[in-house]
Amino acid sequence: MHDKYNPKNKVYIETYGCQMNFSDTEIVSAILSESGYSITDNPDTADVILLNTCSVRDNAERKIHERLIHLKRYKKKNKHLLLGIIGCMAERLRTKFLDEKQIVDFVVGPDEYRKVPQLIENANEGERGIAVKLSRVETYDDIVPLRTSGSFAWLSIMRGCDKFCSFCVVPYTRGRERSRSLESLLKEIERLRGDGFKEIMVLGQNVNSYKDLSSGTDFADLLAAAAKTAPGIRFRYMTSHPVDMSDKLIETMAEHDNVCKFIHLPVQSGSDRILKLMNRGYTVEHYLDRIKKIKELMPGCSISTDIIAGYPTETVEDHKATLDILSEVGYDGAFMFKYSPREHTKAYNQNDDVPDEEKTRRLNEIIELQHKISGKLNKAEIGKIHPVIVESMSKKSKLDWQGRTDTNKVVVFPAYHGIKEGDTVSVKIERSTSATLFGKVV
Ligand code: 5AD
Ligand code: SF4
Repeated sequence: MHDKYNPKNKVYIETYGCQMNFSDTEIVSAILSESGYSITDNPDTADVILLNTCSVRDNAERKIHERLIHLKRYKKKNKHLLLGIIGCMAERLRTKFLDEKQIVDFVVGPDEYRKVPQLIENANEGERGIAVKLSRVETYDDIVPLRTSGSFAWLSIMRGCDKFCSFCVVPYTRGRERSRSLESLLKEIERLRGDGFKEIMVLGQNVNSYKDLSSGTDFADLLAAAAKTAPGIRFRYMTSHPVDMSDKLIETMAEHDNVCKFIHLPVQSGSDRILKLMNRGYTVEHYLDRIKKIKELMPGCSISTDIIAGYPTETVEDHKATLDILSEVGYDGAFMFKYSPREHTKAYNQNDDVPDEEKTRRLNEIIELQHKISGKLNKAEIGKIHPVIVESMSKKSKLDWQGRTDTNKVVVFPAYHGIKEGDTVSVKIERSTSATLFGKVV
């Protein structure tokens, strides 16, 4: 049996899905450390393995099911090993995990992470537990996330989503929208500044609908206050919704040098008919008006998007309209997906009538066009010099470092003596692909 306060009780957390999940993993890690557990990055020596899961598309869930088959081996090797499912899939599938997956010991949804230590303890006593209540108030406001990087921090400012896009499972797995207070966020930013952090990614499922009701603060106010509180820190944010992309927010971004000139603004489709069915709450005209304003006030601001191919009833004309908006906006990057029906959502009741091979064909067309657009925009960066915050060793070569420009472009450059994570270096861009810039420090 495990002893809860024995630091030998090591927990390994594997995270899937969006950045909110990565940020949540730091919250769960903090809750566990508080209770005497230690966090390990080695599943082989762990006493508890947690999978922080994603439900947004069917293939995200499939990955977890496959991983569970794999994890059976760990359980065979160590019969005391506990396995917990946390995150969106825990919320969506609930007891199904316990009924159908005998290797799962406990299940915890996104608003019940404070219960993880208790559920581990119960599981040690042989009780297979579940905690999946959604909350209208839980923001983990008082918990200091256990961050692993010393220079880059995720900062969750709100949770949940009230938009109810017809394809999206998030309102059902993460519940209603709620924001943290301005006061507590500024305190956290102040602490991050004191601790030497260089970059903060401000996070929320719908970050620009942030609202601190007690002080009447909206997202633009928060961003302005954050930028002023920590002038030496670079701020980015994700993910914003076109409906809440106000003039005030764009003006605030333009006013502050330490707010990155980068906006992830998912359009999903270029067809008004499909946008209406998706319950997105805007038209192509509104969306393009926002883009115009962004480009007017911040020339050179980079913009990325999400696209869904093959939403129910999507015609070839609708699909062409999506290709058109990609060309018209000229996105620096895009996440592109095939529509995947999700239980509980409104679209789930609509006939998923675009055949899979047609969805694939449309998706490939979208990817190919976007590839060309990003390639062209990245080529235009050659010869320019960008301040880059050093993030990590390059994924492909130990002789190179990588970091990001103010416009969120990944830059790879040869390492040189004395350079370290969190440093800002000037990099002259020498070549590019559609995904990456390459250069050298000047
Ligand atoms: N099918 C395909 N893509 C989806 N997304 C969300 N739900 C679905 C779905 N059912 C995509 C959207 C969203 C991104 C996070 O995932 O593009 O912006
Ligand atoms: Fe999902 Fe729409 Fe909310 Fe984004 S805005 S999380 S796509 S419901």
